[in-house]
Amino acid sequence: MEFTQLVENVFLFKDYVNVYVVKDADRAILIDFGSGKILNYLSEIGVHEVDYIFHTHYHRDQCFGDSIAVQKKIKIAAPHSERKLFTKAEDFWKTKSYYDIYSLKPTYFVSPFNIPLERAFKNEDEFEWSPYKFKIIDTRGHTARSVSYLLEHETGKIAFTGDLIHSGGKVINYYDLEYSYMGDGGNFGINFTLNSFEKLLKFNPVVLLPSHGDIIKDPSKEVEILKEKFNRVSKAFRHDKIVPTSMDHENAMDLVNQIEENEDKTLFPHLIRKGFGTTFILLGNNNNCILLDFPGDGYFFAYSYEQLAKILKEKEVETIDFVIPTHYHDDHIGGIPLLQQEHKIPVYALENMVDVLENPTHYRIGCLIDTPIKVDRVLRDGEKFTWDEYEFQVFHFPGQTEYHMGLFTTIDGKSVFFTGDSIPPFILNAPETNNNCINFCQLGEDVGSVKCADILLDCNPDYIAISHYGFFKVDKEILQSYRDHVSQYESIIADLVAQENPNMGFDPNWISFKPVRIISKPGGTCKTSLVVKNFLEKESSIEVELNLPDNWTSDVKKDMFTVKPKSVKEIPMAIKIPETENPKGRTIITANIQWNGKDIGPFPDLMVDHGFIPSDTWTAWTPYKGTDLLQWIINYYVRDLQFFT
Ligand SMILES: [Fe+2]
Repeated sequence: MEFTQLVENVFLFKDYVNVYVVKDADRAILIDFGSGKILNYLSEIGVHEVDYIFHTHYHRDQCFGDSIAVQKKIKIAAPHSERKLFTKAEDFWKTKSYYDIYSLKPTYFVSPFNIPLERAFKNEDEFEWSPYKFKIIDTRGHTARSVSYLLEHETGKIAFTGDLIHSGGKVINYYDLEYSYMGDGGNFGINFTLNSFEKLLKFNPVVLLPSHGDIIKDPSKEVEILKEKFNRVSKAFRHDKIVPTSMDHENAMDLVNQIEENEDKTLFPHLIRKGFGTTFILLGNNNNCILLDFPGDGYFFAYSYEQLAKILKEKEVETIDFVIPTHYHDDHIGGIPLLQQEHKIPVYALENMVDVLENPTHYRIGCLIDTPIKVDRVLRDGEKFTWDEYEFQVFHFPGQTEYHMGLFTTIDGKSVFFTGDSIPPFILNAPETNNNCINFCQLGEDVGSVKCADILLDCNPDYIAISHYGFFKVDKEILQSYRDHVSQYESIIADLVAQENPNMGFDPNWISFKPVRIISKPGGTCKTSLVVKNFLEKESSIEVELNLPDNWTSDVKKDMFTVKPKSVKEIPMAIKIPETENPKGRTIITANIQWNGKDIGPFPDLMVDHGFIPSDTWTAWTPYKGTDLLQWIINYYVRDLQFFT
């Protein structure tokens, strides 16, 4: 028997999401749809006609089977403010760029094909379906506009809540709560979820029926448990100092001026930096210098090349010997292609950053540019090298992103550690940390922020030099308190997310394609790999089945692989595009995943362009083209909103 009867006329069907059936005689309404295989079994409970599918939210695992429903002329309904992520899903894929990603909403967990809707429900809409009545409640949180369906049943009100809450007082993942980049820390998602609980519980539902996990028989108790966990998150890394999306240039300049005023310019005569800028210029003794980071943006992130040239002239600097990026983010490297291509300045970079710099289009990670940077010298983790009178030690320093370097040296008689963006500004034991899931930083001992804290404790620098914010005096006590603070992260997230390992609820790319986008043509063959991070202590199995359009073929069909404990596996594959394919098309390929025997649905996606020419929205920000990065980011937010109006 595939169905569990919950109460009279309400059934649960387990797919990669929970699909619920509300039945009246031989007709039914389904809440969410998963793969659609439920249709093969409905006759077991005497259902012969489905009147509607109600979607709680747009995520791909809720609606991937909808193409079958459309063929069978089953009507589909979804939240009004998410309707375009169903009806215009293909536009989403054509317009939402992979570059300069500063917001996570909408995520890319969107249907690869358009899904026509019969209805789009607004908050408090009612739907009469004799003998039952549904009330629609806006319960945003897990997604920006998800809804719950409240069914009036003889046993009391039953709420179909999508992914608002997972059983056990948990959420399915943390990254869906993080909406914006600028220090959000899950703030939006958590606040929305808390408001949604308040709204929902006013109706006194007797049971919550979630999309993942078990049914929730004591709603107020499980909500209380989750609230308590959110509280712990608040104390660790959720804070309210969010840079508003409406931040204008005047406010931005206030921030720049504030930092300038607080800075002691006499501390390091050999180091030059400016405002909220990311560049450190280190002066040598032979009319030379090196640069740490160079965004090439003259307005906010300082400097433009012209401004840099002016400063160097004033300091009688004749050569820039090399430039080192602390990490791959646009506001740290945007201007490096110009230095490299037009001024022949060599680029040094940490080993794990090389592929991202040289092949940025293979990735879909936060704040990326699309211009390749050739690395002239690869620096190894722990390596020491000298330049001018300085000795440097290089570290893998993955606090904000995995692809990040720390650099330790002595300047003007003081030891200083350049921490890039891996260490938060000002207060090292407060929630102002860089927990952007969008950067896929890791949780645990020996990784992520804990690794950074340990490196700092070992080096014990006099000062840390923080990108954007300047120099901060530190000592063992301060650094130890930072370590104590960040070492809580793993257990807090582990307690909160319904995943075997907290990183699986923290890194939306734990199974992803690389390259994630391929440019080819009809008749061409795309080579890519599925990259699988096994965060577990045990060997794991993964079954991969590509969802290919008609006549597309691949050497990986429905194959099983094993991944060693605590390791990353790359599964190479070649996908052949048929000659007859649209010569101007873009196709999204997904892969159904079984992880250790558990079906998690069409989780990773791959973009194949076979003749499609993306519009300007796909262009990454590049300096010197008349738009500063801050304005570019604001425009990006505004563009995202089009899918929710
Ligand atoms: Fe979801």
